[in-house]
Amino acid sequence: MAFPNQFIQELKLNNPLDSVMSGYVSLIRRGRNCVCLCPFHSEKTPSCTVYLENHSFYCFGCGAGGDVITFIMKIENLDYVEAVKFLADRAGMTMPDDTSDRGASMLRSRILEMNRTAARYFHDILAHLPDGEKGRRYFASRQLSGGTIIKYGLGYAPDDWHSLTNFMRSKGYSEEELIGANLCDRGRNGGLYDRFRDRVMFPIIDLRGNVIAFGGRVIDGEGAKYLNTSDTPVFKKSQNLFSLNFAKRSEEKRLILAEGYMDVISINQAGFENVVATLGTALTQEQARLMSRYANEIIIAYDSDGAGQKATHKAINLLSEAGLKTRIIRMEGAKDPDEYIKKFGAMRFKQLLDRSGGAMDFELEKCRSGIDTDTDEGRIEYLKRCVRLLADINSPIEREVYIGRIADETRVHKEMLIQQVNGEIKKRIRNDKNRQWTEIRTFQNKLRKDPDSYRHPKEYKAETGIIAYLAAYPEEAGYIASRLSPECFVTEFHKRIYEKLLEKINNSAFYDILSLQSEFTADEMGKITEIAVNSKDVNINKTAVDDFIKILVERGDDKKKATELSDEDFRNYFRDLQNRKP
Ligand code: UTP
Ligand code: MN
Repeated sequence: MAFPNQFIQELKLNNPLDSVMSGYVSLIRRGRNCVCLCPFHSEKTPSCTVYLENHSFYCFGCGAGGDVITFIMKIENLDYVEAVKFLADRAGMTMPDDTSDRGASMLRSRILEMNRTAARYFHDILAHLPDGEKGRRYFASRQLSGGTIIKYGLGYAPDDWHSLTNFMRSKGYSEEELIGANLCDRGRNGGLYDRFRDRVMFPIIDLRGNVIAFGGRVIDGEGAKYLNTSDTPVFKKSQNLFSLNFAKRSEEKRLILAEGYMDVISINQAGFENVVATLGTALTQEQARLMSRYANEIIIAYDSDGAGQKATHKAINLLSEAGLKTRIIRMEGAKDPDEYIKKFGAMRFKQLLDRSGGAMDFELEKCRSGIDTDTDEGRIEYLKRCVRLLADINSPIEREVYIGRIADETRVHKEMLIQQVNGEIKKRIRNDKNRQWTEIRTFQNKLRKDPDSYRHPKEYKAETGIIAYLAAYPEEAGYIASRLSPECFVTEFHKRIYEKLLEKINNSAFYDILSLQSEFTADEMGKITEIAVNSKDVNINKTAVDDFIKILVERGDDKKKATELSDEDFRNYFRDLQNRKP
């Protein structure tokens, strides 16, 4: 959909790129610009530049780039319209009226309505209908109180292929809508059937109190233990957390992160409101960021089995990347918090929380596991693991503290340990540099596979030059358009940009190259920004543009004139690109 230009201009004014980006990365001021670690690929030295003067960004490592809308599209994984909406929300702006958008938001509110109706249906069955007996017995066996069942709106989907389908039809929902909400599936004979059958139901509720999805647990039947709603227009499993609607109300600035729905409910029932879980997937970056809005510390209470511990290790990293402190509870005598609370009670669980150790304790414990530190071999292996772990710590003060502790514990000289750790850090920086070069090279190769830039360097340069010039001097559009037809472009992509640019310039008074994004994908916008960024330093004037036009027009006459760039030239070109100080 196309938004009025003025709206987009206002949206951008109200959402300065640097302020939006600093919600996701730490920006470091460097001259007229800012730099940061690129959020779109992993790196240890910043190669992402934010250009404050025209509110664009570009990563020299992975080629991501664009303006604030592109940024949000990529980082929040949204399409263009959703990103605009996201930013409008952020700035408290009302979206302009549009029928297509109204259609989408109608569908969303229909799905929410269907989910609420279905949740109520499942809950009523569980609460007092004869069909719900099996579900009632199940939850009783898991020791859930009536209050908890009501609080979480738990339900039971009967052992029937059409129970919900028929009910929802009677309420006037169409087949398409029921499938869109992922409540029903279509059978081979074309008819609908219930997605959730003979399962106890856990509604997933967002921060506004909407039922956005369901998890359904088997009782004794076959199939996956949990069946969850797939992603729908109202639900992205990677971006929500179970029970956050309750946890956000808690006064505490810390959240407990558990693995399963049942653990969350059990912990909550034991009196801890501040508990959440992911929705059938490993923890994601988005979820870590979401938690950081409500807490500054996360206590990880995953299962005590191997899988749980592995997941803990991953979660620690993700959470600390989001700027959160982590503590980890160590459970003995129970496989998960639910069992622990049943066996030892809420008081003991509280002690477990209070005594939970920091991430370092958890990692050190892991280093020790499977090793006999009384033997020399064991101590050496332990120390080796410790050195790798210590090299992970970014804060020098913290590192110093732990080095001291480990030196005491293993009775080795502190200086020796410091030396080893520093060596490891140096090695990593070296590796990181190498890896970055490999990344840059891969990126170059990708570009190089862009056959036009490789095979027709002169034309390629002319085309990008003209595009950059047009972007800077839209008033020259008429002049250029009269001399150069899009047909003269060698590169399909540049031709498209050129056509769209002329079109935009013709249609509107406000105009900047980044407004092309309603027509191009986020990746393409990266390339377009690159063109704008790279040509900023090269002063393109009218004479240069005339030359460029000549090159392209002449090429139209003699296509064979295109010259090839040698590998050497190509490397030089990129070395220049890399060395240029942003
Ligand atoms: P668990 O198997 O530990 O489930 O999976 P649980 O919630 O603790 O249930 P009980 O106590 O064993 O009855 C942890 C979480 O992983 C997801 C669910 O979100 C579950 O809560 N999961 C698990 C699935 O999505 N699908 C599955 O088949 C299994
Ligand atoms: Mn579990």
